Amino acid sequence: MLAALAVAAPGLGACVDKADLPRPVVQGDPARGLAVIQSVGCAACHKTPGVAWPEGRTAGDLAGFGARPMIAGRLPNQPDVLTRWLIDAPSLDPGTAMPPMPLTQAQARDVAAYLYSLDED
Ligand code: HEC
Repeated sequence: MLAALAVAAPGLGACVDKADLPRPVVQGDPARGLAVIQSVGCAACHKTPGVAWPEGRTAGDLAGFGARPMIAGRLPNQPDVLTRWLIDAPSLDPGTAMPPMPLTQAQARDVAAYLYSLDED
C-alpha cells in the first residue's frame, strides 16, 4: 500500500505526514472556492464546513479533507488529481458515485484551495 502510494505520488513518498502534503501548489482562491461550492450544491451530498445548509449524508463530511493523504481512500490527494476529481471523478474511477461537476478548471482550483484549507476534523 505504501509502495503503491510512492509510485503513484513520488512527491509524497512513503511518509504521508500532513506537512508533506503539497497544498501550497494549488493556484486557487479559497474564498471563491467556497462560493462555487455553495452555487453548485456540493453540500447536497457532503456536509461541508462553511455551508450551513444542506448537510448531505450521501457522501462523506469534507471537514478535515485537507489533512487526508488520499482522495476517496484510493487516489493520492494532490492538487492536480483533486482538480480532476472535482470536475470528472468517474474519469479517475468509473465505479465512483461522485458525479462529474459543472466546474471550469479555475473554479475547480478554487474549490481545491478551499478543501485544502479544511485541515481540522
Ligand atoms: C450527488 C452527490 C455528490 C455531489 C453533488 C458531490 N459529491 Fe463529492 N462525493 C460523492 C460521493 C458518493 C463520494 C465518495 C466517492 C467514492 O468513494 O468513490 C464523493 C467524494 C468526494 C471527495 C473525496 C472525499 C474524501 O474524503 O476522500 C471530495 C473531496 C468531494 N467528493 C468533493 C466534492 C465537492 C467539492 C463537490 C462539489 C463541487 C462534490 N463533491 C459534489 C458524492 C457527491
